[in-house]
Order: sequence, then C-alpha cells, then structure tokens
Amino acid sequence: MHIPVMLNKVIELMSPRNNGRYLDATVGEGGHAKAILEASAPDGSVVCSDVDGTMLGRAKNNLEAFHAKIKFLHTNYRDIEDIARETGIEKFDGIIVDLGFNTAQIDDAARGFSFSNEGPLDMRYDTSSGVTAYDVVNKFDQERLARIIKEYGEERQSRKIAKAIITARKRSRIKNTAELASIIAGTMGGRRGIHPATKTFQAIRIFVNDELENLKAFLQKAGDFLTIGGVLIVISFHSLEDRIVKQAFRQFSLLTGPVFKILTRKPAVPDEEEIRHNYRARSARLRAIKRIA
Ligand SMILES: C[S@@+](CC[C@H](N)C(=O)[O-])C[C@H]1O[C@@H](n2cnc3c(N)ncnc32)[C@H](O)[C@@H]1O
Repeated sequence: MHIPVMLNKVIELMSPRNNGRYLDATVGEGGHAKAILEASAPDGSVVCSDVDGTMLGRAKNNLEAFHAKIKFLHTNYRDIEDIARETGIEKFDGIIVDLGFNTAQIDDAARGFSFSNEGPLDMRYDTSSGVTAYDVVNKFDQERLARIIKEYGEERQSRKIAKAIITARKRSRIKNTAELASIIAGTMGGRRGIHPATKTFQAIRIFVNDELENLKAFLQKAGDFLTIGGVLIVISFHSLEDRIVKQAFRQFSLLTGPVFKILTRKPAVPDEEEIRHNYRARSARLRAIKRIA
C-alpha cells in the first residue's frame, strides 16, 4: 500500500475545516484524501481525481467509508477547469497535487514502470491513449532519444545510451523493461549507487506522460480555483518539477486580481523518521501557497 508523503504537513498547511470543499487531483490510493476527509468531518467533502482509472478503482475501495462526501473523476489534473465544471465547484478551500507515480503502479509489472520487474514497455498513467515507452524506445531517432534522456533524466551519458538503444533495436525490437534495463546497464558498466537505468526510465516516463507540461499548464490556472483562504499544495519528487513549482508560485503573486502568500519559503522536506519508514519520501519537496484576497 502506498504511504502518503508528509501527511502531517499537508494537514497543517491546508487546515481542512468542517464544510470545506477540497480537491485531491492525484488521488492515487487515497491516503491524503482520507486525512483531509477526517480533518474536515463531518461535512467537508473531497473531489478525488486521477488520470489512471486503475488507481481510481483502488481509491474507491480504500475510501468506501467516505463515499457520501466524495466525487470521483477520471481526469488529468491539468484540466482543472473540467473538474470544476463537472462537479459544479468553482473554487476549492484546498487543492493537493502529489506528483509522479504510485507504489501500486510501480509494483505492477504489467504497467512497465519498473526496471526491476519484467513487463511490457508502457509507462502510461492513462492507458487509454498516448504514446507508450515502446514507441519511444523503438521508433524515435537517436537524436530525439538522447534529448529526452538528457532533458528529463538529467543523465550525463544520454548520447551513449541512445546509441546503444539504436544498435540493440537493429537486431530486434526492444520488447520489455528488462531488455531495456539490461541494454542501459551494459553501456554504463557497473557503477555504484543507483541502478544505471534509473534516470533513463524516469526520462521516458516523464516524456510519455507529458509530466512537466501538465504541471506548467495546471499551475498557470490553479490559483483561479482557490477560495480566499484556500491553499494549494504541490508535492514533487525531483528538481525539474520543484523548479517549475517554485517559479510558478513566484508568478502567482505578480498577477493582478487574487492575492497570494507563499507558505513555504523553502520547500518542506520529510524528516529522517519518515524517510526511514518510507524510502520513497526521501526526494519529496512540498510547496504551498495561500490565496489571501
Ligand atoms: C504519488 S501518487 C498519489 C498518492 C496519493 N496522494 C495517496 O496518498 O495515495 C500520484 C498519482 O498521480 C496520478 N497522476 C499522475 N499524473 C497525473 C495527471 N496528469 N493527472 C491526474 N493524475 C495524475 C498517478 O496516476 C498516481 O496515482
């Protein structure tokens, strides 16, 4: 089961209240949503949305006791105006976006996110549409592959890896995650530390799901969907995302109209205790902003 990251901090900053209306736009397995529902009981409500239909199913099961206070939606969070239209809620008292993947997605080899479990090269959160990792690895030219691996993986050996992928696929198509991981490991030699395929897998996942563009598009309009006093929280897992959130929050305050206050001058990070029992939390960065007028 996915352990929600920095749960206490989320509740402290959002301070959910009875009758409040909240949006968890990346509900996953519902850990943050559950805490918001509990803190806003008896009459607070949460719109729970996710772009992955399988995750929505899991959230529905986990949040069964709260169904009367939840609306579930299968939506990309970048389309926040659709969420508002479909629920009839124009402004929320709190919005949370907890980025990236859920443990259940990584653990399911059939989703193709993991280099340690053999599975098809997919990596889409929304399996109903879009380019797959298979398309990227087997169809993109060397230049484009290298650019993706460098830009989204911050991988210094991007050119070497792209070349190895092209060479390998001339022999036969690269069909699964294990093959891809072994091609990458073969080019980079045995280095200490993280698995040699970590950055390339991250890069392909970010590209396939358009993760950075989703975040930018969402942040351009998210402020319009907050009540006065409403708080937006974004939890990110790598520096590319955190930079986008930091810059966008600065821009919020420059806009005319609603007035915002940044609640986290520096990003909040998990303490050692949390990292000890949830290793995935180690790279989390939480930023929050509040609409004050
Ligand atoms: C880190 S998990 C969220 C975990 C959740 N906070 C919990 O406590 O269980 C991230 C979730 O965001 C979803 N996701 C990723 N990109 C998305 C997008 N563009 N729109 C909506 N959901 C997205 C993933 O499918 C995944 O379920």
